[in-house]
Amino acid sequence: MSGRIPQTFIDDLLERADIVDIIDSRLALRKTGRNYSALCPFHKEKTPSFSVNPDKQFYYCFGCGAGGNALGFLMDYERLDFPVAVENLAHHVGLEVPREQVENPQKSQQRRDIYSLLEKSSEFYQQQLREHSSAQKATTYLKARGLSGSVAKQFGIGYAPPGWDNLHKQLAKTDEDIKLLTEGGMLIEKDKGGCYDRFRDRIIFPIRDSRGRVVAFGGRVFGDEKPKYLNSPETPVFHKNRELYGLYEARQANRHLSKIIVVEGYMDVVALAQHGISYATATLGTATSEAHLEKIFRLVDEVIFCFDGDQAGRKAADRALENALPLMQDGRQARFLFLPDGEDPDSLVRSEGQQHFQQLVDSALPLSDFLFQSVSGGIDLETMDGRARLSTLCLPLIHKLPTGVFKSLMLQSLADRTGISQQALEQLTSQQQQNKQHQASNTKTAPPQEQYPEEGVGSPHQPLSRPPLAEQQKLIELSGTQKAMMLLLHYPRLAIQLDIDIICAAATEHPADPDISTLLQLLEKLKDEPHATPHLLLGHWLHQPAGELFTRLLSKDPSINEQAAQAELNDCINHLTHLTKRQNQQQFIDELANNKTLRFEELSDAQKQALRLIYSKPSG
Ligand code: UTP
Ligand code: MN
Repeated sequence: MSGRIPQTFIDDLLERADIVDIIDSRLALRKTGRNYSALCPFHKEKTPSFSVNPDKQFYYCFGCGAGGNALGFLMDYERLDFPVAVENLAHHVGLEVPREQVENPQKSQQRRDIYSLLEKSSEFYQQQLREHSSAQKATTYLKARGLSGSVAKQFGIGYAPPGWDNLHKQLAKTDEDIKLLTEGGMLIEKDKGGCYDRFRDRIIFPIRDSRGRVVAFGGRVFGDEKPKYLNSPETPVFHKNRELYGLYEARQANRHLSKIIVVEGYMDVVALAQHGISYATATLGTATSEAHLEKIFRLVDEVIFCFDGDQAGRKAADRALENALPLMQDGRQARFLFLPDGEDPDSLVRSEGQQHFQQLVDSALPLSDFLFQSVSGGIDLETMDGRARLSTLCLPLIHKLPTGVFKSLMLQSLADRTGISQQALEQLTSQQQQNKQHQASNTKTAPPQEQYPEEGVGSPHQPLSRPPLAEQQKLIELSGTQKAMMLLLHYPRLAIQLDIDIICAAATEHPADPDISTLLQLLEKLKDEPHATPHLLLGHWLHQPAGELFTRLLSKDPSINEQAAQAELNDCINHLTHLTKRQNQQQFIDELANNKTLRFEELSDAQKQALRLIYSKPSG
């Protein structure tokens, strides 16, 4: 059976293969400066204009415009289909091609059936909370913990009565149901055959995904028995390090969410909601992962982590900090709140009330303060040794931040704290990075050194033929949007600091301009994979119009370094978005002038966007 070849494998393959190797075994390559050249196999020529760039791992012909990465070359040169070219290349580097299981229609139907049974389970538990003969025990418990009926209802809290087969009897009508309930984590199979209910004699918290579908449950015992909470296992519809308890409910409760608090427990989320703080979510007994944070930052710009004040809480905070750093683009904020020893949000909000808790949230430590605080524990900053130590510990963390104003400020602040100049710190950073890269490339299967003779050594120099005039013209005539893409292709990391929403808005405003939507595609890819290299990117758009454009753009030498490229890129983007802004504003103002009773609810999405742009902070 041949399913899809996973993209991660193709990326890996392109990482390992060397395009010089691949092409050299088919054409006679000559070293010319940093690149290699040959007569182009794709058109007739007498002087070589076909060039292979080992750094960017791609080829380009200045004569006919053919170009691409190693896979593209194999496809075009050997006239192979994509999967065959992948097989071929994999064979060359000694890898086996894995195939993805194709999700068959049966499987997706099965998942739909599981969702539906989980929904029915949730309804059953809620009904038991109202109707079961011993339901009073459960309602008394919930009341004792300060919960009202309406909050219990909002979170779909239920009751799993004592007994081994309540849910089984209620929902499993057929063998197929039993199978699905087992896969969904609700029934547990006995070794000797038969099965029993997972959740018994517990308060039940349904866990909903961001679409509001019930995907799992947590169940709490009434007393002090262990385990206190029982949770659904990983199932086809539930992956605990991606879900956040209470996120769906928070979105339901707030028309405009601006921040989210991350707490540790189910009861913390529910108790905070009970006290009017309806924007808390909890991880499900795991550390806050990058996946969690990405989910959160897609919704809001501010996250407040709330931890117990004890040792375990500090440790959890350190993990959260590490995972948050790469996502801290300018404009986003993360803060850390440590509660007094022995308290959790539930106990605290109940004893001290909403206002007090709100104040604690408002005074939570900014990420920058927490970073320095957590690193400098035990370091004596009065000594030179101590200050040096602080900088070695902080730099790798600061380095995880995406390029931007915040990162610069952090470096500045480290400079102030240590008395080491910012310039020296930057040098240290790049040294640390180089060491890292050096280590990494030593462990990878690096090509033998001899393969890359130093410039001017041993290989006859053959100047590259000048590109034909038409081609030169094409390169010179890059639009601002194309220039932005060109810079991003050469320096993919620059994507991290760009505000994708604003470019999204530009793309919606100019649906006819293919370049903007291509730029958006490129950015989206880079946001997902900030470490993508140029040839990996080409791999994603192989033989598509975007891929051809990217190849052409990559063939242009930006002839500026990353820092200058960043400034240039910002100019391009500002230009693009200002254009959009101006057009939007004009259009909007015209419309307002023609219709004086226009109300916000009646505005089109584009108009709302325009209004937001007009009132948004001035960009850069
Ligand atoms: P806590 O023990 O702090 O829970 O565990 P809590 O919410 O304060 O519990 P209450 O107030 O006594 O009801 C925090 C989270 O860790 C997971 C649960 O997700 C819980 O909400 N946990 C804890 C488990 O999964 N199993 C356990 O046995 C304990
Ligand atoms: Mn608690």
